[in-house]
Amino acid sequence: MFEIKAKDNRGRVGVLKTNSGDVKTPNLMPVIHPRKQTIDVKKYGADIVITNAYLIYKDEDLKKKAAEIGLHKLINFDGPIMTDSGSFQLSVYGDVDITNKEVIEFQELIKTDIGTSLDIPTAPFVTREKAEADLEVTLERAKEAVDYRNSQNMEMKLNSVVQGSTFPDLRRKCADELTKLDADLYPIGAVVPLMESYHYKELVDVVMNSVAHLPDSKPRHLMGAGHPMIFALAVAMGCDLFDSAAYILYAEDDRLLSVRGTYKLENLQEMPCSCEVCCNYTPDDLRAMPKEKRRDLIAQHNLNVSFAELRLIRQAIYEGSLMELVEERCRAHPNLLEALRQLGNYSKDLEKYDPRSKKSAFFYTGSESLYRSEVLRHIQKLRAMPRKRDLVILPPSRKPYSKYVSSKLGNFYVYGSEQELDLNNTDFMVLDIPFGLIPLEIDEIYPLSQNESPRTWDVSSLEFIEDFISEFVEYYDQVLIHSNVIKKLDIGLYNIHSQSDEIRYAKDDLKKVKAIADYQFGVGAGDALFAGNIKIEKSKKTGKIRHIYDGKTLIVNMRASDSFLILSKEGAKRLHAATQYPKNRVVVNKDSEPFSLEGKSVFAKFVVECDEDIRAKDEVLIVNEEDKLLAYGKALLGACEINDFQTGQAIKTRKGMK
Ligand code: GUN
Repeated sequence: MFEIKAKDNRGRVGVLKTNSGDVKTPNLMPVIHPRKQTIDVKKYGADIVITNAYLIYKDEDLKKKAAEIGLHKLINFDGPIMTDSGSFQLSVYGDVDITNKEVIEFQELIKTDIGTSLDIPTAPFVTREKAEADLEVTLERAKEAVDYRNSQNMEMKLNSVVQGSTFPDLRRKCADELTKLDADLYPIGAVVPLMESYHYKELVDVVMNSVAHLPDSKPRHLMGAGHPMIFALAVAMGCDLFDSAAYILYAEDDRLLSVRGTYKLENLQEMPCSCEVCCNYTPDDLRAMPKEKRRDLIAQHNLNVSFAELRLIRQAIYEGSLMELVEERCRAHPNLLEALRQLGNYSKDLEKYDPRSKKSAFFYTGSESLYRSEVLRHIQKLRAMPRKRDLVILPPSRKPYSKYVSSKLGNFYVYGSEQELDLNNTDFMVLDIPFGLIPLEIDEIYPLSQNESPRTWDVSSLEFIEDFISEFVEYYDQVLIHSNVIKKLDIGLYNIHSQSDEIRYAKDDLKKVKAIADYQFGVGAGDALFAGNIKIEKSKKTGKIRHIYDGKTLIVNMRASDSFLILSKEGAKRLHAATQYPKNRVVVNKDSEPFSLEGKSVFAKFVVECDEDIRAKDEVLIVNEEDKLLAYGKALLGACEINDFQTGQAIKTRKGMK
């Protein structure tokens, strides 16, 4: 029912399949009032809507009509419709005249596409006792709803809402319990009060603790979120759907939504965007209008900016610039900036979902960028690398550093035990923001060259880099730090002697490709892949490495855009022979073995196991349960998702071994 088409961080462009058609996600479901609706939301871009089954149920007239003609005709929308259950009314009025079972039955009767059980929206910051007691009821009802739907063979899909107030462990517990059910979508509930009071930091905790314990193969819906200001952040945390009455509620109050916040019409001298409403009317025109006409035009603007933002977000996911968009959006309000900083505490989780390579470059937009998964990933790899005896630290220059590094390296200060430098036993690294230290051999691999940062370093990045150096100098016997690096930093390194002997760096293509292979596939891969009569072929135009052979046999191609090594049949064989199961492997079941051997792509449902370090865009080996090499290809999803999904492609196979 849900498939991922493109990913960036936890954000995904997906397709949600319903009986009334497919919907591209992330998407916004405008709230339709079953009686008062004046705006045709479809005309302004709505692909899916949400309405309230309880309001229909409570109105005798609507109830009868809905049962007769169905929900789609009742609200005049032929696309997918989600219904809410009255839980929101429960949270506002304290009570509703309907049971959980009744509301499930009623939603099926009126032919909703996606129904919701009667969860208890527990407000933020309540006592733990209250949150726990409510949660028990929410869980019981979610289970009752799913069991009832299944026992009656109902057609509708079901939401199971995550509650737990602002207690991260209760959100996790709720998500874990709901995951055991056969629900179709997982909304995250009771977040409206957090958003209304600008408690975005707490929103990050609530959402991250929920999504990290929900299945990756089901869509998540941030309930009641309808302000475009937070869409990008929420999508980066893994939310796929939004719903809101904000477009019309704000319009009734003469307020215009924007990604920078909310504008009151009374304060506007200029219209805030380039949508058709903003192009065709001035603030004075709107102020002079009858209330209803003005409300509808402002609602139209509100929908326009919301859908425009969602298009931009999906585009950012396709091109791999979602975090740049999030960082931009989170500068619209100090509390959003606080939320972005809070998200930095979850980078270990986000890293599991972030593709290894992207179409667009990594932009450093402030110290928050230092907590992005790309940085964390590089640091982890660097820490795991085998080290030589000595280290030479060079200042950043033009990228790629290895291309422009001169063979004579200038003045250095020595840290540690001063001894003659053995070039064969020395690591050469460039000090860099945001990646800390970049070994010269691997500097062309994504994102170590494909990034931009200001040439001057701010205080936070200086602190980051100083911590980095302090950690790394301890791993080596002797560290030679270039004088230009010392000038940039204020590190209290003791035992520093000046040294002016000339140090030389000799470029070595074989060392370089081996280091890239180790970085990409794991330590030892370089020696295993590039043994024999190695020939390195370069592009005549750019001088970049393109193909690597053993004699006449191709082992790998090096992709120009990100310097990733793309295996050939021989490369796959060598990598397979040199690495231990399940490293770099995706294991498929018996049934799919012949398809893999023929080079057909691997669907997630055929995967029985995979290396937990696999990320989207990794080059992987496809093996059977006896570890026989069947094929090789490119992962479209990360290990967590490959394991969870039962539909869609997991690996785009490059070639079968047949
Ligand atoms: N609408 C906004 N918040 C909620 C919630 O927590 N539960 C339900 N069912 N609907 C909502």
